[in-house]
Amino acid sequence: MRKKAILITGASGEIGQALIANLSEQQSLPLLTLDLHTIPPELAGRCTHIGGDILDSKLLARLVTEYDFEIIFHLAALLSTRSEFSPELAHQVNVDGTLALLQVAAEQSQRRGKPVSFIFPSSVAAYGLPNLAIKARDYRLKEWQWANPSTMYGCNKLYCEQLGIYYSKHYQQLSVNRPVMLDFRSLRFPGLISAYTVPSGGTTDYGPEMLHAAAQGKPYACFVREDTVLPFMAMPDAVTALLQLAAVPAESLGRAVYNVTSFSLSAADFRDQVLHAFPDAQVTFEPDLRRQGIVDSWPAELDDTAARTEWGWAPAYDLQRAFDEYLVPNIRQRYHHEAQPAK
Ligand code: NAD
Ligand code: SER
Repeated sequence: MRKKAILITGASGEIGQALIANLSEQQSLPLLTLDLHTIPPELAGRCTHIGGDILDSKLLARLVTEYDFEIIFHLAALLSTRSEFSPELAHQVNVDGTLALLQVAAEQSQRRGKPVSFIFPSSVAAYGLPNLAIKARDYRLKEWQWANPSTMYGCNKLYCEQLGIYYSKHYQQLSVNRPVMLDFRSLRFPGLISAYTVPSGGTTDYGPEMLHAAAQGKPYACFVREDTVLPFMAMPDAVTALLQLAAVPAESLGRAVYNVTSFSLSAADFRDQVLHAFPDAQVTFEPDLRRQGIVDSWPAELDDTAARTEWGWAPAYDLQRAFDEYLVPNIRQRYHHEAQPAK
């Protein structure tokens, strides 16, 4: 008999760690986690971890015979900057990996006669604005505007949103006996900021990198211009959004892909927030023109009206609460502990 479980791929990453910490506190199903990397020791007791590759078809086939997944949080991916350095690998992981997981969910939905929930984090990178004048003019984008990504990662995210919709609505549409379809839901996240983990390989990373560097007393050279505006969100809100979306009754959802966001600010405003908390921080601006080009194509704000009106989305942390109540105290404590001599 297969064991019921929640599957989290990419579980060792930033969102994965926060999601494990949150889900394991709830009276929920056992967590099965899959990642190329190990889970940090403090989370290891809260899940059954498989070290492996989502592209390993034998591994996925084995998991399907052992587990019955209620929900799949498919987080494994290469992020935007890393994907530009290895676009073909990014396509394999981000698209082929997602396709393989969608097939697992489709097969399981059919076998048990009940949809598997497939929750997919998409990104602000799914957008692609042609130039800064239009970014200034079309400041706040709805889901269907400017979906013309200029990065491999953005193309991958946009296509996977469509693949998920295909598998949940049109899969085997010419069969006489239509199968029970999976239930695909996706969030387009802004840049996420965690107090407990530092990102790598993304292009929104300058915000969290600046903050974590300041807390450690390290100088930081920001790789985008001071006037660069992007949307951001504190990690606890990202986890809340994933869990809230997973729990909404299907009939309340008017779409499969929703923008969610919290606050937008310029890189200079980010520096000012950092200096307010860490007055000795050394932040300079040394724009990397190639990475700058990527963020210039991403919107300054995401319009998340659909999520707010259809399923009550509202971030708990606006700009000031995010810095004052979540980021600064927890980051301060984290590095203060690390700075203590070992006993
Ligand atoms: P992350 O880079 O911290 O984590 C991704 C994880 O995926 C890593 O632990 C990595 O080892 C794993 N992984 C990569 N390739 C794999 C493979 N072939 N097989 C198994 N595991 C593999 O990223 P994150 O910030 O936790 O992001 C999680 C998801 O959310 C990603 O899909 C990302 O695109 C999306 N997202 C993140 C942000 C953000 O700002 N962090 C914003 C929008 C969307
Ligand atoms: N933070 C992510 C990145 O920059 C956005 O999806 O790649």
